[in-house]
Amino acid sequence: MRKSIFFLLIIVAFQGLWSAPAKKIVIDINQVKATVNPSMWGVFFEDINFAADGGIYAELIKNRSFEFYKPLMGWKEIKEGESATGKLLIINRGKTHSSNPRILQISFSATKGSYGISNEGFRGIGVRKNELYDFSMLACTSSGSIDSVKIQLVTPENQLIGETTLNRLSSEWKKNEAIIQSNSTESNARLNIRFYGQGVVEVDMVSLFPQKTWKNRKGGLRADLVQLLYDLQPGFIRFPGGCIVEGNDLANRYQWKHTIGPVETRQQNFNLWNDNFKEPFNAPDYFQSYGLGFYEYFLLCKDIGAEPLPILNCGMGCQWKTAELCDTLHLEEYIQDMLDLIEFANGSSTTRWGKIRADMGHPEPFNMKMLGIGNEQWLEQYIERYTIFANVLKQKHPEITLISSSGPSPDDSRFHFAWKVLSDLKADIIDEHYYMSPEWFLSNATRYDSYNRSGPKVFAGEFAAHVANKWELRLEANNWEAAIAEAAFMTGLERNADIVTMASYAPLLANINAWQWFPNCIWFNNLESYGTPNYYVQKMFANNKGTHVVELLQNGSVIAGNDSLYANAVIDKNKRILIVKIVNNSQLQQTLNFQIKGVKSLRKSASTETMISSDLSVSNSVEQPLKISPVRKQLNIDTKNPSFTLGARSFTVLKINYTQ
Ligand code: AHR
Repeated sequence: MRKSIFFLLIIVAFQGLWSAPAKKIVIDINQVKATVNPSMWGVFFEDINFAADGGIYAELIKNRSFEFYKPLMGWKEIKEGESATGKLLIINRGKTHSSNPRILQISFSATKGSYGISNEGFRGIGVRKNELYDFSMLACTSSGSIDSVKIQLVTPENQLIGETTLNRLSSEWKKNEAIIQSNSTESNARLNIRFYGQGVVEVDMVSLFPQKTWKNRKGGLRADLVQLLYDLQPGFIRFPGGCIVEGNDLANRYQWKHTIGPVETRQQNFNLWNDNFKEPFNAPDYFQSYGLGFYEYFLLCKDIGAEPLPILNCGMGCQWKTAELCDTLHLEEYIQDMLDLIEFANGSSTTRWGKIRADMGHPEPFNMKMLGIGNEQWLEQYIERYTIFANVLKQKHPEITLISSSGPSPDDSRFHFAWKVLSDLKADIIDEHYYMSPEWFLSNATRYDSYNRSGPKVFAGEFAAHVANKWELRLEANNWEAAIAEAAFMTGLERNADIVTMASYAPLLANINAWQWFPNCIWFNNLESYGTPNYYVQKMFANNKGTHVVELLQNGSVIAGNDSLYANAVIDKNKRILIVKIVNNSQLQQTLNFQIKGVKSLRKSASTETMISSDLSVSNSVEQPLKISPVRKQLNIDTKNPSFTLGARSFTVLKINYTQ
């Protein structure tokens, strides 16, 4: 036993000391290979995994307007005192309120005790000690005498942790507002609304928001999640998906016009990720309130300095689901939606749709430059429709770059068909999707080296390395094995920045307690959130994008897998910084000796940011959100031929200031 430990120690010590001979890498700053699109590294936002309601949209009440299929889903009746009685009725006012038809009528008698309703939130309501929450509710009383209305936050054990009282309710419909403070931190609270006295009251749009939202906007977005996006410095946000753009069928498609204007007039829709799966993926309570709508998406882009990239339906329901098609003779409504969106985003406030934007609070245009025609569509039926849309849009809005689709796979017959036809049609940018194994990502680091330089550009619009498909391992699937493979692959995207003009990991957000897909970039629960190793890889690329790709060679070839090394170099021409991204996916450390050409001198100060773990299964978690994340070091460099030793299984961004 002792002997074997001794030998093990010798082996470990030997492995630590041993490394392959230094490899000579030549970087020539004068050999510019491509200009990097300033918006190259972006994010793909889809309302999947409760990313919007129950996620970044900070509303804490589920089914706030009773429009779910089951109108009382998320709600329950509550009574206090033996003699309290009452009933709940759902009334449909569709004739006069077509976008938000249902209200809840509460008839009660509670002269001793109280009668009311209680909301469970999105897998609970998350509240923090001493923080303030804005409660609001549309209500009107039609008869009786209501003594008081109490709004309460309670724990799962029914312990009161916050309470406020509403002013007298009016007999006219009115928004009633109150502030409630929580005296405890609780991730699984409920909201109770208790009525005292007797009478009939009708309610709608019951809402609770933290006051601490992103930029403290009322009814705004979750600050921690937007902060993670902000830190990423994404060049663009693609929104609102994903399959939800298409809908299960056309009736369920995402219609941006339903998502703007006052929130109480936005027409809710069920979410296509609602009922497609069996336990534990199913989510019958997954709907789209559209509180996060197109105006909010544009504002988010502006807030975090990202280009807006909306994707709209092109008359095709999800091809994985119903594959329902709008016939090509009747696409006017869909085409008009695209034209009107351009006016909403870019038109002056005197135009019809520009005025709606201005009335919502943003008179200046959002300066949208890109638009996606359909999401993940394929085959002839897509091309037929794409052609009709592209013809109109190119004629009316030649300034807008159009994104087209190559289907769901990176290399099947649908993909090759789309590329052939879209190239003939001179499409601007083609969206490619790859949810593949880490091995695929590693071996595809040269994928774009041989792409046709005179055809359409590429948008790597949805990608993620998938390591495990056991749902129990959903959080572990965002591990270092996947992230380092993505980093290796991304050096190849960056090297080919002349053709790959945009890229985004997918999906972006996932609620730990209500998800349908993994892996994802950022996970969260009702109170916490964290970036995965994959998030930090995206961040290292996006934060260090540079302006131009420059030549980086080993023995005259690009570095894309030899000795498990993957590398690319860019410069920031304005700031005169050389930025080298290198993955060492070997089990051994490796030393690189750089020869840096085209510079007068290197400034002494340099830095590295490194993610490293010899254990590929490591991932982050709520408890250890930074377990694998970049560590920064300052370096002194005094030669044009510096050497660096890369740890085993590491991803490093090396930054060197230079003069020319
Ligand atoms: O990212 C999840 C899904 O993957 C998207 O909704 C769809 O575009 C793709 O199939």
